[in-house]
Amino acid sequence: MKVLAIESSCDETATAVVEDGRVVLSSVIASQVEEHKLYGGVVPEIASRRHAEAISKITAQALLDAGCTMDDIDAIAVTAAPGLIGALLVGVNFAKGLALKYDKPLVPVHHLRSHIASNYLTSLDLEPPFLALVVSGGHTHLVEVKSYTDYNIIGCTRDDAAGECMDKSARTLGLPYPGGLNLDREAKDGNPQAYKMPHPHVEGAPYDFSFSGLKTFVINTVHNCEQKGETVDVADMGASVINAVVTCLVENTEKAAKEFGYKKIVLAGGVSANSVLRARMDDCCKRNGFELFMPELKLCGDNAAMVGAQGYYEFMAGRRASLDLNARATMPINEEF
Ligand code: KG4
Ligand code: ZN
Repeated sequence: MKVLAIESSCDETATAVVEDGRVVLSSVIASQVEEHKLYGGVVPEIASRRHAEAISKITAQALLDAGCTMDDIDAIAVTAAPGLIGALLVGVNFAKGLALKYDKPLVPVHHLRSHIASNYLTSLDLEPPFLALVVSGGHTHLVEVKSYTDYNIIGCTRDDAAGECMDKSARTLGLPYPGGLNLDREAKDGNPQAYKMPHPHVEGAPYDFSFSGLKTFVINTVHNCEQKGETVDVADMGASVINAVVTCLVENTEKAAKEFGYKKIVLAGGVSANSVLRARMDDCCKRNGFELFMPELKLCGDNAAMVGAQGYYEFMAGRRASLDLNARATMPINEEF
């Protein structure tokens, strides 16, 4: 079964054709990074306009690359939540137009579910149940994935996402957008113990996260140094904040896996590309005898192949949207459209 997938939740317009939830026949991404870089972050209105310009052309490209026409497509999957509302609406409306014109079933997909599904494309033998750590620009979730469409949230961030903390730290240190990626690169040779960072816990909620204190610590330290005419070592500060964020992520995942009895751990979301997180989670899993699954690097960030993978499993579970489907800026991962 072939799914045509569409993703436009943030600053990548992406389309793909995926077979049976596991095989990527094509995957096209029109990135807007260069334009948002001028502003130091994503400008939502610009994102929507660029999606509107790109979406038709890259859909044709995805079909061409897959050697398909719309006749070969069995369903259309689209990211409908969560994300930037104007950006999501471009993809949702385009998908509805295609579904209407070609009389195809329309399948709404939750963005974080699709990030988890990027692992089904990388590890063909991966099947639920497992424990997933979903770390993106806007979300940090520890989730029990009980089946392909059944989720239970064990922990989440009380304030900033891990990606937000890395992005803002990078910006404060003068690194260009996209911050997390550049911070990872610049911090490679830094000393992670150079700055004594806070180690945030959420009282009474052992699996929840809090990253706003770490972000504020970086901002305050950099500003204090500037006022005193001192320079901050970017590599050392970068390595210290990455180390602090990753320590929280790995500790909570390890605790949850032991408490809830999971031996399969899955990483997902843009921050799962972080080299320190990948290495430290690997150590943790080896130490505990857990099996670790991570998306290949090109599937960590936003793409439509992962939407096609999750869309297939949503379709198999009977999930469909009608032509009055709306986008939602926020939506819990365990809720249905
Ligand atoms: O999943 P994603 O592409 O978009 C959202 O759904 O938010 O995640 C984007 C986040 C950004 O915060 C970006 O800085 C971060 O992923 N990111 C990284 C790395 N690559 C991307 N963070 C840390 N290290 C990286 N190598
Ligand atoms: Zn994402």
